[in-house]
Amino acid sequence: MDRIHITGGAPLNGVIPISGAKNAALPLMIASLMTGETLELVNVPRLADIASLSRILGNHGVDHMVVGKRPGQTTETGQTIRLTASNVIDTTAPYDLVSTMRASFWVIAPLLARFGEAKVSLPGGCAIGTRPVDLLIMAMEALGAQIEIDGGYVVARTRNGLRGGEIRFPKVTVGGTHVALMGAALAHGTTVIENAAREPEVVDLAECLIKMGARIEGAGTPRIVIEGVSRLHGARHEVLPDRIETGTYAMAVAMTGGDVTLENTRADLLHSALDVLATTGAEVTTVPDGIRIRRNGAGIAAVDVTTDPFPGFPTDLQAQFMALMTLAKGRSHIRETIFENRFMHVQELARLGAKIRLEGDLAIVEGVHRLKGAPVMATDLRASVSLVIAGLAAEGETQINRVYHLDRGFEALEAKLGRCGAQIQRVRS
Ligand code: UD1
Repeated sequence: MDRIHITGGAPLNGVIPISGAKNAALPLMIASLMTGETLELVNVPRLADIASLSRILGNHGVDHMVVGKRPGQTTETGQTIRLTASNVIDTTAPYDLVSTMRASFWVIAPLLARFGEAKVSLPGGCAIGTRPVDLLIMAMEALGAQIEIDGGYVVARTRNGLRGGEIRFPKVTVGGTHVALMGAALAHGTTVIENAAREPEVVDLAECLIKMGARIEGAGTPRIVIEGVSRLHGARHEVLPDRIETGTYAMAVAMTGGDVTLENTRADLLHSALDVLATTGAEVTTVPDGIRIRRNGAGIAAVDVTTDPFPGFPTDLQAQFMALMTLAKGRSHIRETIFENRFMHVQELARLGAKIRLEGDLAIVEGVHRLKGAPVMATDLRASVSLVIAGLAAEGETQINRVYHLDRGFEALEAKLGRCGAQIQRVRS
């Protein structure tokens, strides 16, 4: 299994290009199932999760083509892919595929809306808590689907297609909102989604569906209204920048010190995180087509954070922020309200010398003067990158094991950081 070796202590200086958002690319790719025409997606990141979803869509019969490189493109500029679901041969998503990536459960909505049936395996457990799909099922039922659970599968059917309805989410759910949007876009009549997720990836999906002919208003607000249409057509859509990758590198710079411009990204995608970073003492400025982060000399101030749905502080940056707070002056409180059990990084950060106490959903971080490198283990996607950040700021060598988690969500991580002066290498085995 590959490992990452980091020799910490070097500040980061330079430019980091930000990739297209994994969490937008996944639902956009799934939306290709909603039409027999071609959906062309630009700026798709090269990641293990994207490759897994391509395999899953291929199993349904979706043709997948990667457009060849164009002048000026490198392996780090996102790829352009064309997905064509003109010949869907299978409306079943089997366990061995769905269990590799939870988001693939979302295929249930386009399959049901377009073909009137879908059989999708329940995704199973996940390292960050139970992550149920009850609200996704509730949304499909509100659109008139009949749902049964049989042998670990959700079997969904409609008699005469989905019909518009009211979907009121008791809790904000990104996946639930994606599923509701896709189902409602092809339902008969009007759907109103209340307490919808406002995440930028929901807006990106809605914008793509609108290009495909859907009638959607209010994406980005808690109330989305969808007027169903009978069919959608092909479109071309550029995936929005990855706000989690942006925030991760911003936190790395805030921790190691230095001066880095994050290119091809937008501050409005992560205001809450950037505001928090500025409060810790980093200088955050907006530049054309990106964000510049600097921290020179000044200490890191301790700041309290609570994760929340967008526009609040994202749970997907909680681990990285905790890494930063391990070197803050004083005590910070970090509360995780979205996922239970999303503190697996705490034990590993402790191996580097961090002082963190857990009380239920609250982590209390006592800043220390320095961290010291050690062998650590990645446990999930965001936790593993928090260890990278901490390793960059720690004295001496950090070795991170089980890095396949990183490859699910961070494109060319070592190359991007290495060019900014980090001493980071992948050791293949
Ligand atoms: C998405 C993101 C993930 C991010 C999360 C929250 C993708 C591929 N993943 O995950 O990176 O951390 O949003 O911003 O976009 N819940 C239920 N029942 C359901 C569905 C969700 O109780 O049927 C709960 C979850 O357990 C969790 C909360 O709702 O506590 C939010 O989950 P949700 O927003 O649905 O997360 P995902 O869409 O899976």
